Amino acid sequence: MTLNVNTLRPLSGTGRKLYIETYGCQMNVGDTEIVVSLMQREGYVYTERAEDADVVLINTCSIRDNAEQRIWGRLAEMRSLRKRRPGLVVGILGCMAERLREKLLEGASGVDVVAGPDAYRDLPRLVREAEAGGRGVNVLLSTEETYAEIAPVRLDRNGVSAFVAIMRGCNNYCSYCVVPYTRGRERSRDAATIVAEAQSLFDNGYREVTLLGQNVNSYRTGEVDFPELLRRVAEISPLLRVRFATSHPKDMSDRLLDTMASMPNICRSIHLPAQSGATTMLERMNRKYTREWYLGRIAAIRRWMPDCSITTDLIAGFSGETEEEHAQTLSLMREVGYDFAYMFKYSERPGTFAQRHLADDVPEEVKSRRLQEIIALQNELGLASYRRDVGREFEVLVEGESKRDARQLSGRTSQNKVVVFDRGSHRIGEYVRVRITGCTAATLFGEAIE
Ligand code: 5AD
Ligand code: SF4
Repeated sequence: MTLNVNTLRPLSGTGRKLYIETYGCQMNVGDTEIVVSLMQREGYVYTERAEDADVVLINTCSIRDNAEQRIWGRLAEMRSLRKRRPGLVVGILGCMAERLREKLLEGASGVDVVAGPDAYRDLPRLVREAEAGGRGVNVLLSTEETYAEIAPVRLDRNGVSAFVAIMRGCNNYCSYCVVPYTRGRERSRDAATIVAEAQSLFDNGYREVTLLGQNVNSYRTGEVDFPELLRRVAEISPLLRVRFATSHPKDMSDRLLDTMASMPNICRSIHLPAQSGATTMLERMNRKYTREWYLGRIAAIRRWMPDCSITTDLIAGFSGETEEEHAQTLSLMREVGYDFAYMFKYSERPGTFAQRHLADDVPEEVKSRRLQEIIALQNELGLASYRRDVGREFEVLVEGESKRDARQLSGRTSQNKVVVFDRGSHRIGEYVRVRITGCTAATLFGEAIE
């Protein structure tokens, strides 16, 4: 099986022009690349400017209310663009399309196409309907769609690292989370197409793939589970780095850690969302593990890979959160010593278990204060983690020029920390051994050794 790397068709005067904007998670970035691929087949050419487009698509996120508010704002801007460009087709894709179909089509929203995450093969037809003066709507969720054989068009174009979706949907129903409702049931993509996509990326000069899913640890197709899939991708070449996201702590197996430890090109970096440090809270969140179980998994990671970085997601102020529960989140953070964290204030989402059965009862100012405490602590922990690296040596995969200074290159360690160093004769896509000489809380600085 081959799955060629799909490249952007150059802009020519003929095809209709498509512009896409992407919000939210890496899955959405991957979905956008699939949409561009599907639309290119239909003759559309991609443009980077909404002002030039005949079709504007917005790939949306519903995870928190502020994500949705930003998109409503963007839609208002599209309505004014349409005044200047009559005939412009505006489409909403992704989680908001799924969640808010009716509202999006109401009155003068200016939306012509609404397509949910499993309806992208239908997009060309939906756009044609809109062009004919109608409205194109498809928000059917599927139990099978994985877009397995579609070669995404890589829009990032650093040509070094790429995301590869290995599964879609989520069955976990964490009580605060809207994803199982917007992205549907969990399903795994055929392993051969994943390996073929990674192989073709490698053959085209890419040196890093990140395997993506809401819960990669529950990947399974036939005989292939996640550790086996990871091994098959990592065996493509010792020069191909392999990362993955996201792991659910309840399914993080010893077999996975064993596979990681046995292959140096599987990166020493695990994103393990804790959400909270209190067992009572984890129960209300329906996370299906306890604080002790979580810490047991952290201990196992450290046993197998002492140099592995650990990052997390945390939510402040979920339903009924007491000061004691909040204090346990802070103590968990200290105990683990996270290298990095994504930290959020709880945002109630319509239709979730929490919205139906639990009160959003932590006052706004308490949520804010707790989030600030979490952020302040993580700043300390992050800085300590970067400082520990000063004086050490790392293999850095070069991804591009430094944004600040073109005489410097920027890349990442296996632990996923950004390193900036003097270019010398090194190039993008190369591995360079770098000794770390200094740091900030988010960047390491160093010098190439050879
Ligand atoms: N409110 C705040 N944060 C949330 N997340 C998911 N749902 C919500 C919500 N309703 C966070 C979780 C998850 C990350 C992707 O987003 O921490 O891991
Ligand atoms: Fe949401 Fe939980 Fe599924 Fe993650 S695992 S997408 S937080 S329901």
